[in-house]
Amino acid sequence: MALTFLFASLSLAAAGLAGPGIWGAGTSLAVVHLFALGWLCSMMLGALIQFTPVLCARALALPTLALPALLLIGAGTAMLAAGFLWLDGWTAGQGALALAPAVLAAGFALAAAMLVPTLVAARAFREPEGRMVILALGALAGLWITGAAMAAALAGYDLLPVAVPRALPFHILLGAGGFLSLAAFGVSYKLFAMFLLAPEGDGPLRRAVFGGAALALAMAIGLAVPSLAGRAALPAGLPVALAAAATAILYLAEIRRLWRSRRRPQPEVNMRWSRAALAFLALSALLSCPALLWGGQWAEVAVFLALVGWLSTLTLSQMVKIVSFLTWIQVFASQIGRRPVPLVTELTDARAAGRMLALWCLGVLCGALALALGHAAGFRLAALILLAAALGIGREAIAIRRLRHLDPARRPDRLPPLILPVSLQGSSHDNTRPARA
Ligand code: HEM
Repeated sequence: MALTFLFASLSLAAAGLAGPGIWGAGTSLAVVHLFALGWLCSMMLGALIQFTPVLCARALALPTLALPALLLIGAGTAMLAAGFLWLDGWTAGQGALALAPAVLAAGFALAAAMLVPTLVAARAFREPEGRMVILALGALAGLWITGAAMAAALAGYDLLPVAVPRALPFHILLGAGGFLSLAAFGVSYKLFAMFLLAPEGDGPLRRAVFGGAALALAMAIGLAVPSLAGRAALPAGLPVALAAAATAILYLAEIRRLWRSRRRPQPEVNMRWSRAALAFLALSALLSCPALLWGGQWAEVAVFLALVGWLSTLTLSQMVKIVSFLTWIQVFASQIGRRPVPLVTELTDARAAGRMLALWCLGVLCGALALALGHAAGFRLAALILLAAALGIGREAIAIRRLRHLDPARRPDRLPPLILPVSLQGSSHDNTRPARA
């Protein structure tokens, strides 16, 4: 579902429905949310549903809620996009803007009903990655509140006197910097250590990252409320942006430390391209204060680098590895010891994946430059490059699921289904504690 939203949003941006000069238009708002909610939030919630049991070393609570959560978030995203198109005069979207936040809330609540009890039962706040995921879920609530209040105001419901332009920076900080980035921080602590064969564990840097993130989040939520009512002036957001940027820099220092302590001399393709994502995070963090002070192109480039550069490059590069890993577990784990099994890396064409990730990064640079120059045609070209790269990575994911890179003699008689089945959830690899007899 996330990939479908990614392809759709990039196609619409390549067609010129979003970009410099028309950001406030309904079509642009629709494209931004097909990307931010449909692609990034669905992917992140999917990743949390897969990884929270690994972080907590226990089975996920209520795993059957995953499918309804997915469907509700998909429907809510499509409705929100339809509601934004209504702002441009598309009558079929009438009513959607007011209803979409309720559908999204139901989807987020179901996801929280799986994640929160799992984290609480495992006392996950004692571990750095668990603490980060808990903060991320707090930011998700703040993101929803600011988004829903703005949607209600735009739909004409004057329940609260909402000052949309003042609330918008907090909304974006809570979404890109809060929920998505903090969840990515938490998951990456575990994932990077696993893929780099680096020692895990808490330390002063991780505690500083958590402290900075908690402070930035508390300030963002605290200021979002008066800003919704138009009572907080924009410079009030500056300390939040400063705290968020400092947290990102501390996180990057922690990942550098982890990278240096690795025991895998040659990082695989997913980790090599994650470095580009980290560089985009650094750039976006540096631009966050000018973005808040001066807005305009500064803000466009900073948000683009966060959503498309940092979060999407990280997700796409790790997706290649994780699809191979889950496919390998599904197909070959039960055969260990009975017959020779391939390595996880043999399921992927690392060179093809690397080429597509390089193309993606070229698209990010081209898009950031086009936004900085306010060049609409350049932005459309960037969206086209990003779309080509995303389709290439999607093709690679299908090739992995179909075991196309394996010699036919080593493939099983029955290929796994293209979409990962529900039965994979809660399987033994989710639980890193030894099973009781
Ligand atoms: C991670 C998730 C999200 C991110 C990164 C995000 C980001 C953004 C951005 C960048 C804009 C400004 C777009 C532009 O000016 O073209 C925006 C506006 C808006 N967002 Fe979101 N958003 C997210 C989730 C949501 C949710 C869940 C809702 C509703 C419940 C929502 C409702 C709105 C509304 C109503 C506006 C319009 C404000 C205006 O007219 O300027 N967003 N969002």
